[in-house]
Parts: sequence; structure tokens; C-alpha cells
Amino acid sequence: MKINFKLFIALAINGLSFAGYAQNANVTHYNEPHRPQLHFSPVQHWVNDPNGMVYFNHTYHLFFQYYPEDIVWGPMHWGHAVSKDLIHWKELPIALYPDSLGYIFSGSAVVDSNNTSGFGKNGKVPLVAIFTHHDPKGEKAGTDVFQNQSIAYSLDEGNTWTKYAGNPVLKNPGIRDFRDPKVMWYAKEKKWVMTLATKDHITFYSAPDLKNWIKESEFGLRAGAHGGVWECPDLFPLKLNGKTYWVLVVNLNPGGPNGGSATQYFVGSFDGNKFSPADTQTRWLDYGPDEYAGITWSNTGSRKIFLGWMSNWTYANQVPTEKWRNAMTTPRDLRLIQSKQGIVIASAPVPELANIYANTVASKNVVVNQTLDLSAKTGKLKSQYVLKLSLAQLKSYTLKLSNSKGEEVLVGYDDVKDQYFIDRTKSGEVDFQKDFAGRFTAPRLTVSKSSDLTLVVDNASIELFADGGLTSMTAVCFPNQDYTKLALQVDKKLKIKSLAITGLKSIWH
Ligand code: FRU
Repeated sequence: MKINFKLFIALAINGLSFAGYAQNANVTHYNEPHRPQLHFSPVQHWVNDPNGMVYFNHTYHLFFQYYPEDIVWGPMHWGHAVSKDLIHWKELPIALYPDSLGYIFSGSAVVDSNNTSGFGKNGKVPLVAIFTHHDPKGEKAGTDVFQNQSIAYSLDEGNTWTKYAGNPVLKNPGIRDFRDPKVMWYAKEKKWVMTLATKDHITFYSAPDLKNWIKESEFGLRAGAHGGVWECPDLFPLKLNGKTYWVLVVNLNPGGPNGGSATQYFVGSFDGNKFSPADTQTRWLDYGPDEYAGITWSNTGSRKIFLGWMSNWTYANQVPTEKWRNAMTTPRDLRLIQSKQGIVIASAPVPELANIYANTVASKNVVVNQTLDLSAKTGKLKSQYVLKLSLAQLKSYTLKLSNSKGEEVLVGYDDVKDQYFIDRTKSGEVDFQKDFAGRFTAPRLTVSKSSDLTLVVDNASIELFADGGLTSMTAVCFPNQDYTKLALQVDKKLKIKSLAITGLKSIWH
């Protein structure tokens, strides 16, 4: 009998991968110390950037930078997970493996509805992934051309992928950092537009067919923050009062507002060839230390849903978890708002978060003179909840999340400095890297006297959205015991308009 060797290997690999998937379905997992209960993390091993996020046939796809052999960064693959509601995730077999052209670095995925690529067969719409091939040998050899853009397609909902024989489709012109293509359909001119991070600026390319790319323009050498390398960009339109603006997201590492990696953005216009910003100021999408490589889902119409990696390159390889390392943020809806700094982005956790709501405890018109103990209000889940606070007149306050070991995270607002803050100096395990402990701040961007705050608390992270999401901050933490206590502390009398705490059920159990 003649054995089909290729088929045998494919079945073996699939078998292994499906074993991984079966593990994911097994609820004995996701119980480890520090395991996020509301956020996506893979069953095991290393994860960084979200990649190839695309909505297709009522399913949200999330691919991600993945190293399936260790809990430190290594030869990159694209892991794969799917969700119907952006909240519950099912991990699937690895989508893209490294090959002779290199590791599979970050990139995007599109639904090629018009079959411009010609990859569609028998009326099947292809999903096309556009990613960076990073050639480690070229890097070692000291060349400057080891990052090139390639494509792959899937005709079965992203389950299996075929790499294009003509890869790479966009060759490196001699720029060491030449990566992270984010592609969108520019309907007006019936062409694809690629936004690419090219060291210290963005280069736009276009192609009719996802294969033949030509350079359109460059942006950013003299705009925004430049404390590090520009990575993982995104370009998309958003409306405000009926008018269309274009948002250019640029991730930066290092050089973030609180150290290390962070996401900045520009608002302006795009004419199919060139991005023109309204101004060149630096604006941060999230001021906290732990939102990075954030970009949006493609094919979601006018809704723009953002997801970041919930970590920071400063210590991502050292955080104290054993089976897996790192996770994603809560998905966030983006919208534009007129603020005192011009038109800016406001972010809010997606409303689908309500799918895991447990009980709510709410109170109205409470006056706090010193300390308000809220421990009894966090429900059975204790360290997984959404807290919503509304104040008619903003004054300083501190929310203290703590445990009986004396570990604590302080979150709040300082009216002298007009800043929100997250302080994880005494949050638990902090010694694994020297810059991890610290107090992180963010400006208040609204002119309004009133204020609102939403906190999404998981057992190893806090996400803050203040003033309708104008200021947001994300920070991870590693307590040696869950923070089961919660208190609101003030120096001066504080009048609370409303306060509600809603427990959040685990997405894994
Ligand atoms: C951002 C990044 C990308 C790159 C990927 C490699 O975190 O450095 O620029 O494609 O991670 O894993």
C-alpha cells in the first residue's frame, strides 16, 4: 500500500492541534493562579499581539502571535480563537506556522468578497491573511531586508490556510523594521490599502488584488511620539456628527506615557493615497502600562471594535505565570468625541460584556466622609466585576482593592493634579522586573465637572474607563491571593450620584 506521506503528516498535526482544542474545552483548565477569567488567553504558552482580527459569517476571529513551545517569546505562529460575542472564546488549532521565509509576525485578515485575489473557488469567499514574514537567518546575517509581507488564504472559515506561492508580495526596500500590515478595502477606488509600520513612520501601499502592492505615501516622521519603534498600525474611518474622520492608530515600543509599550493615534483625513492629520499632537488610546499592539476588527461595518495585548514588552517575558503567559484586553468599542484637546477617541468595554453579568448591587446618592467599605458588594465572585461610579462634582477619591496579605491596588482620581491613577506598588508579586511596581497616571480630558468611571476588574488586571471613556488605563497585577476587599477612600466629603457593582462570570467555566 502506498502511504500518502503528506496526508499522514497533516492528519498527525491536526490530531495534535485538536488535542489542544479538546483541552480548551476542558473546564479543569483556566483555574491556575492569575489566570484571567474574563479575558482571552491561550490554554498554554506564550501569546503577544492580536492578529488578523476579522468578523466573518457571524463569527469573530482572533489570531494571535503565539509560540506553542514555551512561555517566552520564540518563533512566531498565528494562534487562532473564535467567538460569537467577543466575550466567550474557543481556541482552535494553530492557523499559520513558520516556514522557509521565516516566522509569522503580526498582520491582518480581510474578507475578499469580490474575489480580487482569485483565491476564491466555487463561489467560496476567501479570507485572506496579510502578515510579515520575519526571516531570523537574514536578521542574524545583519541584512536589513529580513521582514517582508506575505499572504495566505482560507476557504473554510479560517480553519486551514494556504500560503500564496508568490510570497512575499511586498519586498523590503531596506528598512530593518518593516512590518505589521493592516489592510482595508478602500471602496471609492476599488483597491486595498495597506498601512505598514516602517521603523519611525507609516508607509501606505495599495493593491487591486492583495498581491501587487505599490507605494502611495508616507506619514509620521514629525508627528506624535517617537520614543521607540512604530509597530502594529491601523487605519479606519469613524463618524462624528455625520462627518467622516480617519483614525490612524500607531503602536509604539518603547516610549509610552507610563513607560514601555503603548498605543498612540492621530485623527485626520485620508483620500485613498495620503493621510493628513488634523494636528501632529501625541494622543494615547490607553495610558496604562498594559495595553499594546491594539488594533480593530475588520469587516464590522461602521462599528469599530478594538482589542489590545494586555502586557508590556518591558516585562512581558517575566510575568509570574507558569502555564501560559499574557492575555488580551477586554474588547472595546471606539467612538469619536469633541474634547478640550480636539476630536479624540473614547473607548468603552463592548456591551456584549453583559453576557457574563451576575448580580448587581447598586446605590444612589451616597455621601462618603472618609471610607466606604464595599467588600460585601462585590458578590460571590469577589475579584471579577464591573464597577460603575458616577459623580456630579468630581473630587479626589481612591478605590482600594486589597487582600488579607496586605497586598493592594489603588485606583482613583487626584484633583490637585487633575489625573486618574492606578498604583500597583504593593499589588503582590512585583519583584520579577524592576519597572513593574509603580504608580501610573493619565490626564482627565473632559471639561465637564461631572465624572463617571467604569472599572473592569479581573483577578489579574484592572481596566479603567473614565469620563465616557475619554481616559482609559489598563494594568495587570499578580496578587498572591485574590483582592477580596474593596473600599472607597476620600480626604474631603464626596457625594456619589450612583454606584453599581456587577459580578462577572468566568468565560471559561
Ligand atoms: C509588536 C511586535 C510586532 C511584531 C510582533 C512579533 O508587539 O513586535 O511589531 O510583528 O510583535 O511577535
